Amino acid sequence: MINKIKKTSLLLVITSLAFLYQNCALVKNAGTTSANSDSAASLSSTLEQKAMGVLAAKCMGCHNAKNPQGYLDVTNLNSMLYYRQVVPGEPQLSNIFYEITQGLMPPDQNSALSQSDIAILSDWITNGFKDGTPTVTAPSGPPLTATYSSIKSQIFVVSCNGCHSGANAKAGVSLDSYDNVMKTVTAGNSAASVLYKAIIGDGVTLMPPGGGMSAKQKSAIKDWIDTGALLN
Ligand code: HEC
Ligand code: HEC
Repeated sequence: MINKIKKTSLLLVITSLAFLYQNCALVKNAGTTSANSDSAASLSSTLEQKAMGVLAAKCMGCHNAKNPQGYLDVTNLNSMLYYRQVVPGEPQLSNIFYEITQGLMPPDQNSALSQSDIAILSDWITNGFKDGTPTVTAPSGPPLTATYSSIKSQIFVVSCNGCHSGANAKAGVSLDSYDNVMKTVTAGNSAASVLYKAIIGDGVTLMPPGGGMSAKQKSAIKDWIDTGALLN
């Protein structure tokens, strides 16, 4: 486990270094054209445009407003920020980046992203929000309720399963089926359930790494467990 984490960190360091080199070139270019305070904003919008170009080409077919597979709509930045698909400044905590670099998305790896596409996304997430993160509001959609199906589609799928499903079950925790989720739950007792302890950081590593579950999301999981953790 620890070896795995070390390997992942090493990879991240190597990729970050490669991106740093690229970023320097970008910042240099921005500096020569304009040294005033507008340069940060225009750099951000350039990075965002490039990143949106990659997402449009590689992801939008299955992740658009009409057909947001896995509740991901790559045309909706607010929703990507809200669901932590994109965490400003933190590519390694951003679910879209994770899915891509683990080779999980796109599903057909024949259309996988090139190294330069990946560099564009990393650069945008790392440097594209330096002039401020846009205000994020809860996206419209079915309201989150304290039921398994609602928690699955609105929390596990979007915020957890990238690291807790199938062959990629970090810490041996898989949240991709009811039976697997129940291995982390003591029905009727949220305080004794590692699932709940993880999202509030009580005695175990806070999840998702770095935190980010809203009060509403935490109480949906708590209430679902305390009312019997049914398959509902
Ligand atoms: C051919 C269709 C298709 C394409 C193209 C595609 N996806 Fe997906 N994606 C899916 C489907 C279907 C799901 C929901 C089922 C699943 O999670 O496997 C999904 C789920 C996801 C999820 C949520 C996974 C989770 O469990 O947390 C993320 C994040 C994601 N895709 C990112 C991307 C990104 C980024 C791209 C582009 C690089 C992309 N996808 C391209 C079909 C696609
Ligand atoms: C970016 C990857 C990532 C995401 C996203 C993520 N986790 Fe984790 N999770 C981990 C890692 C890594 C560990 C092991 C942490 C450790 O041992 O310190 C872990 C451990 C856990 C554990 C076991 C804690 C323990 O000590 O026994 C639980 C439960 C858990 N995660 C739940 C969740 C839930 C719920 C979500 C979504 C709300 C989530 N995780 C999202 C990477 C992730």
